[in-house]
Amino acid sequence: MKPLTQVTLEDLTRLCISRGIVYPTARIYGGLAGFFDYGPIGAELRNEVLNDWWWYYVKRREDIVGIHGSIITHPKTWVASGHVESFVDYIVRCKKCQSEYRADHLLEDQGIKVVNPTLEELTKLLNENNIRCPKCKGELGNPEPFNLMFTTYVGPKKTKSSLAYLRPETAQLIFVNYRDIYISMRLKLPFGIAQIGKAFRNEISPRNFLFRAREFEQMEIEYFINPKKINDCPYWGDVKHIKINLLSAEKQEEGIQEHEEITAEEALQTDLIKSTWHAYWVVESLKWLWRIGLSKDKLRVREHVKTELAHYAVQTFDIEYYFPYMGWKEIEGISNRTDYDLRRHSEYSKVDMSMLDDGEKVIPHVIEPSFGLDRVILALLTEAYKIIDKRRVLSLSPRIAPIKIGVYPLLSREPFTTKAREVYNILKEHYTTIYDQKGSIGRRYARADEIGVPLGITIDGQTLEDNTVTIRFRDTRHQIRVPITKLLEEVSKYLKQPP
Ligand code: GAP
Repeated sequence: MKPLTQVTLEDLTRLCISRGIVYPTARIYGGLAGFFDYGPIGAELRNEVLNDWWWYYVKRREDIVGIHGSIITHPKTWVASGHVESFVDYIVRCKKCQSEYRADHLLEDQGIKVVNPTLEELTKLLNENNIRCPKCKGELGNPEPFNLMFTTYVGPKKTKSSLAYLRPETAQLIFVNYRDIYISMRLKLPFGIAQIGKAFRNEISPRNFLFRAREFEQMEIEYFINPKKINDCPYWGDVKHIKINLLSAEKQEEGIQEHEEITAEEALQTDLIKSTWHAYWVVESLKWLWRIGLSKDKLRVREHVKTELAHYAVQTFDIEYYFPYMGWKEIEGISNRTDYDLRRHSEYSKVDMSMLDDGEKVIPHVIEPSFGLDRVILALLTEAYKIIDKRRVLSLSPRIAPIKIGVYPLLSREPFTTKAREVYNILKEHYTTIYDQKGSIGRRYARADEIGVPLGITIDGQTLEDNTVTIRFRDTRHQIRVPITKLLEEVSKYLKQPP
């Protein structure tokens, strides 16, 4: 096998469009910046990733339940959560051509790194560095706050009182329903509530394909804990020895950008991670990302520096993936939101958000692992993209591969095709399987490799004689011959990995 090429975003975009994975939305009209449509292969890939996440964090756990909240909810939610006031980026407009830019991105493009700067800092940096419009070199206006929430109106009247928002995070639907959920499900602390669903942000400059979109999918857990028991994690023994690549805020403040490999226990003992439950969720997040095929050396845990923290968080760690074309970038955030959200909703709704724990009334604290599905998919595609003998191969883990098996008659005529259909009919009841008889067998293998099909079953001359078929393995191209009667057993050895 030849070594992997350095994949670019252009390579991935081309593959995604040509092989039915992801398209910019409505390409016939020129697309719409920041919006994407998943094609037939991409839709399967999404479902595989979503279902595995749901299984791993919800179905197999006794302490987490899942919900499915609405995209538009009571607008007071977003006042209480702080989004109406604080969910802003800073925008600058060119005085000459009226182009609009995100102010910190303009600085970043000039190699000036800024982390959550204030309006004053941005104004000063743009002036000091004499930043001009990248399109026409015109003079720029002053930066202004720009709220990222999409607005709409509920009902026929477009008035202030019918104004509503498309949710910018799924988390708030968990907080506003929290009381109903724990009462109806008789939950006891500690417990988690999970949700997968769309979030919308009117990003000023969506870019880097799926990475920064205006409509995207989040997979979030709000994990509720009695604050007095923030260090009592019953699962700690299972994860404390696990090594993580950690870059602390302190190191970054000293100008160091290299992470170090330490155990979760060391991170906790040295106070880099402030509580056992937070450390547990950092490791538990990594475990799932490893499980679906992202490699350990391409994932790191970076602590937010103080100026970077969201308005609701006291400590946040981003799980970053190393994208060869962008560097280290966030694919998940794990925040300690304390009781910020429940207290704010209690204040605005006048509903008591406390619950009983050990006979005492508490407002739980929250650790929130928040994954972006589209960014996870971009990382998976980036990791899986390989060139083997000058051909593109998507080396996705069988666990999340969109199609698990391809079935191919060696020749596209009878009796090969009938036999191949028989085999296909057996397999499709168990695994997502495709049947392909178009073109040479080499072309068919190549097409399957490009969409990451891990196994190919070929029906050839010998099949007609002794009822055996070949199984071809995508990554090694190695082939084995097995009787059709043993086929399900053989493919399951490879496709049904232990959890
Ligand atoms: N509830 C917490 C929250 O929303 P966040 O860091 O703003 O935190 C969580 O978002 C995750 O959502 C990110 O780690 C990222 O994977 C994904 N995400 C955020 N903005 C995104 C965007 N514009 N496009 C794609 N994914 C995005």
